[in-house]
Amino acid sequence: MSDMDTQDTQRERELSAPEIPAEAEEGGAVLGAVVYFSSASENTSRFIKNCHLEKQGINVYRIPLRPKEPALNVDEPYILVVPTYGGGNPKKAVPVQVKKFLNDPANRAGIQGVIASGNTNFGEAFCAAGDMISAKCKVPFMYYFELMGTQQDREKVTRGVVDFFTRRKTAQANTAQS
Ligand SMILES: Cc1cc2nc3c(=O)[nH]c(=O)nc-3n(C[C@H](O)[C@H](O)[C@H](O)COP(=O)(O)O)c2cc1C
Repeated sequence: MSDMDTQDTQRERELSAPEIPAEAEEGGAVLGAVVYFSSASENTSRFIKNCHLEKQGINVYRIPLRPKEPALNVDEPYILVVPTYGGGNPKKAVPVQVKKFLNDPANRAGIQGVIASGNTNFGEAFCAAGDMISAKCKVPFMYYFELMGTQQDREKVTRGVVDFFTRRKTAQANTAQS
């Protein structure tokens, strides 16, 4: 591919701004990112907002709900937070909006792990979206919670996300030194 082709490709894929940008410390870099989806019932959105991940240096991106909205394009490593749909039909467990986002190879390249939500009323299908994405994208299924989650869920997810990206950063720094 020529340089011209590369530039054109980059121009076509305009990167999205975070819905909630990380509050990086002065001179400090962004630690990591979370990408989430939430439907009109907004349970996952409320969960994410109550985690205040931006205060921990985490960029938060939201996958658009409606097809008319501009597509989400990310180029940084992220953990995906996804509610389960489909009512027990495995083909529909992952929301179409999330499938569309992950069908873009450039977006899929950044996924590091998945956190799923759901409702225990769905029995066997509880949080099935996490199993499906974990298997398809070959990333760990890191955590699951019900509906808007509890205070304990929020604490565990926030700590888990921060620890994951801190360890990743340390490992990269060690590799760069050796
Ligand atoms: C039509 C419908 C189907 C659902 N199917 C499942 C399911 O198969 N498994 C599950 O664990 N939860 C299921 N849920 C529960 C949602 O995952 C749960 O309500 C979630 O918190 C929705 O998140 P959101 O409001 O951010 O979209 C379903 C909910 C609806 C409305």
